[in-house]
Amino acid sequence: MLKFELNGESVSVTAEPDTPLLWVIREHLQLTGTKYGCGAGLCGACTVHVNGEAVKSCRTPLNRIAGANVTTIEGLSPDSSHPLQQAWIEEQVPQCGYCQSGQIMKAAELLQQNPQPSRDEIVEHMNGVICRCGTYNRIIAAIQRATGEA
Ligand code: FES
Ligand code: FES
Repeated sequence: MLKFELNGESVSVTAEPDTPLLWVIREHLQLTGTKYGCGAGLCGACTVHVNGEAVKSCRTPLNRIAGANVTTIEGLSPDSSHPLQQAWIEEQVPQCGYCQSGQIMKAAELLQQNPQPSRDEIVEHMNGVICRCGTYNRIIAAIQRATGEA
């Protein structure tokens, strides 16, 4: 049994130590906002925060998060009022939506580290979180809106 904090609440999970965090979140804890894309660390659809850092949960084994603080899209704000979530709605970013929780969690890491990123800094930081629908320009616009730079 392994314990960690998930979205501010203590959780205990019984699973093999090398079980990917993504599986634990979706299958054991039934939080399905975090998506499975590639399972190989290549797309970013599974991005969550571990101790405030964006990580690809498909490549993060359970034994690496003992005692850690994990935040998923469900825990980013209690009522979807995070400035990024509001900006995402205002810019109507999603197309199919599949990649978007990963995009928002990656963007949230950026704003924690750098509240006023330049466009180039946004592009560089978001590099590697893939959107097959090609919503990249709206993602950038939403991040700029959330920082008051739109
Ligand atoms: S599902 Fe984790 S990076 Fe693609
Ligand atoms: S909105 Fe469809 S993959 Fe990004």
